[in-house]
Amino acid sequence: MSMSFQGLTLCVKTFGCQMNKHDSERVLGTLEALGATPVDSFEEADMVVFLTCCVREAADTRLYGQVATMRTLPLRPDSPLAKRLIAIGGCIGQRDGRKLVDAMPHVDVVFGTHNLHALPSLLQAALDTGSSQVEVRDASASFPTDLPTDREQPWAAWLPITIGCNNFCSYCIVPYVRGREKSRPLEDIVSEAEGYVAEGVKEITLLGQNVNSYGRDLYGSPRFVDVLDAVAHTGIERIRFATSHPKDLSDEVIERFATLPSLMPALHLPVQSGSDRILKAMNRRYDAARYLDLVRKLREAKGDIALSTDIIVGFPGETEEDFMDTYRLVEAVGYHQVFTFIYSKREGTPAASMPDDTPREVIQGRFDRLVELVQRQAFEANQTERGRVVPVLVEGASKRDSSLLSGRSPKNQTVHAPVPAGCSAADLQGRIVDVRIDDAKTWYLQGSLA
Ligand code: SAH
Ligand code: SF4
Ligand code: F3S
Repeated sequence: MSMSFQGLTLCVKTFGCQMNKHDSERVLGTLEALGATPVDSFEEADMVVFLTCCVREAADTRLYGQVATMRTLPLRPDSPLAKRLIAIGGCIGQRDGRKLVDAMPHVDVVFGTHNLHALPSLLQAALDTGSSQVEVRDASASFPTDLPTDREQPWAAWLPITIGCNNFCSYCIVPYVRGREKSRPLEDIVSEAEGYVAEGVKEITLLGQNVNSYGRDLYGSPRFVDVLDAVAHTGIERIRFATSHPKDLSDEVIERFATLPSLMPALHLPVQSGSDRILKAMNRRYDAARYLDLVRKLREAKGDIALSTDIIVGFPGETEEDFMDTYRLVEAVGYHQVFTFIYSKREGTPAASMPDDTPREVIQGRFDRLVELVQRQAFEANQTERGRVVPVLVEGASKRDSSLLSGRSPKNQTVHAPVPAGCSAADLQGRIVDVRIDDAKTWYLQGSLA
């Protein structure tokens, strides 16, 4: 089949985690290579591709709503198509497959998380035949890395090192929609990283649902610390990684925060709960004491490392005492950022059949108390930056005020500073500049170029 999307405009709408964000860069890269032109809005787009998330119910509902509105949205006046092409991929595509077309017949293509590469031919077949195309695979034969990408930020790259997950936390749907964990060969990771360095990329984020278990399925069992060392060796300026499961965080990786200057002093270490009873029911395979011990070791290695975490409030059977264990753990750690989620029941996971009788208002009350603590902590954590000079990787003009530039500190804090006279935010994009911090808020730092 010959494929061309010349003359067609494309909008990719992405929900969920970095995995989907990275996939969306590959969808854009692949379809642009076949002639499609990216646009920002649904209105301008002849083709819309949704990369979906089903980790919580809210994301699920939003997708169905957005796809429904496509039915009545007119095409741009000079579109060569008679009808907008709509494709749904990502985790809901994987989970629901043909059911999506049955529920929403105006959907043209459904693809899963293991067959991104099939999207162009599915779109072409939908164009040629006018009938819906569904292809969802159970697992991928190999690590899908051969697709071109169009990066959102040319100076920062996401580099997947594993896909899938073997952990089966009892609340989580990810292992069912992303499949078993598969590691990418170390040589491939290194050659991709070298390519980025040659292109002038400043920051690489190594991605996986649990990067710490990298390599267990590969010949010779390379470890995650080997990936860190090899990527650091390429000379890349900044390295980050996500996500890191506490049960598999090794002493060697912790030590690298002290010894690898390019490894940024920030770590996302999801705790989920501070109650040992709930952690057990979640199948997390660590307890609060072990988590706090990791925090102690991390701070011994890198005094002012910025820690962030994920917490689920209202897991089935959570009591006030369980919640207070979580609250006290958060107080004890002092996080820079905490992503708080209300438990959302996912059909097919073990937690979905656990008795769950805590009233909604009680859970919401706990959630609000936690959010209040988290905001207070984030504000306090940022105060230590006042008066310091921090190297900031400039992302561009601030979205709220174009006279300010916006970028990231080593600890991944958002930093704003006035664009210096005689220069534009665009000139500084992708550069690392020193900023003297004179004000620190809950969610950003403010300063001026040093
Ligand atoms: N692999 C990553 C997280 C993937 S999902 C890790 O293990 O850390 C991102 C976050 O969503 C999780 O850390 C968890 O806090 C939250 N989450 C996952 N399933 C959820 C559910 N059913 N209800 C509420 N939050 C959930
Ligand atoms: Fe989900 Fe747990 Fe895997 Fe993270 S480690 S993706 S929370 S099952
Ligand atoms: Fe969502 Fe799928 Fe990521 S369910 S969190 S997009 S792996």
